[in-house]
Amino acid sequence: TSRHVILNVNDHSHVVEVNPDTPLLYVLRNDLGLNGPKFGCGLGECGACTVLVDGLPARSCVVPVKGIGTRRVTTLEGLGTSESPGLVQQAFIDQQAAQCGYCLNGMIMATQALLLRNPSPSEADIRQALQYHLCRCGTHMEILAAVRCAAE
Ligand code: FES
Repeated sequence: TSRHVILNVNDHSHVVEVNPDTPLLYVLRNDLGLNGPKFGCGLGECGACTVLVDGLPARSCVVPVKGIGTRRVTTLEGLGTSESPGLVQQAFIDQQAAQCGYCLNGMIMATQALLLRNPSPSEADIRQALQYHLCRCGTHMEILAAVRCAAE
């Protein structure tokens, strides 16, 4: 059964009519038109769907909307736009970190979360923050370079 659910996404309040058990990812993409977060595995394993919830990374494919409450959700769209990319987004562009690009939402959101809690991460910190984000193209070196660049 559908219900009114209020979500704070990218500093805007949204009311959606949805089954409260629906994964946050579906609501972001289907109801709010935010396609930054990607559907990869749907099982919380690949990281493609990552968003920030109160600044912490969360896998939106396995978080029901009813679990969000009043917490602030930030998606890739909340970090910047194509005309005015955020600092982390710009670093990924500068380092040409995309091949197919499917994993980059998760890589960028995990980087954003890392830098929020640790503005000067070590190499080990960076690798730990990204270790459960899967990239099938193998652009890991460029991605690591982008994170280092964003941290400078
Ligand atoms: Fe959510 Fe893979 S789609 S972790």
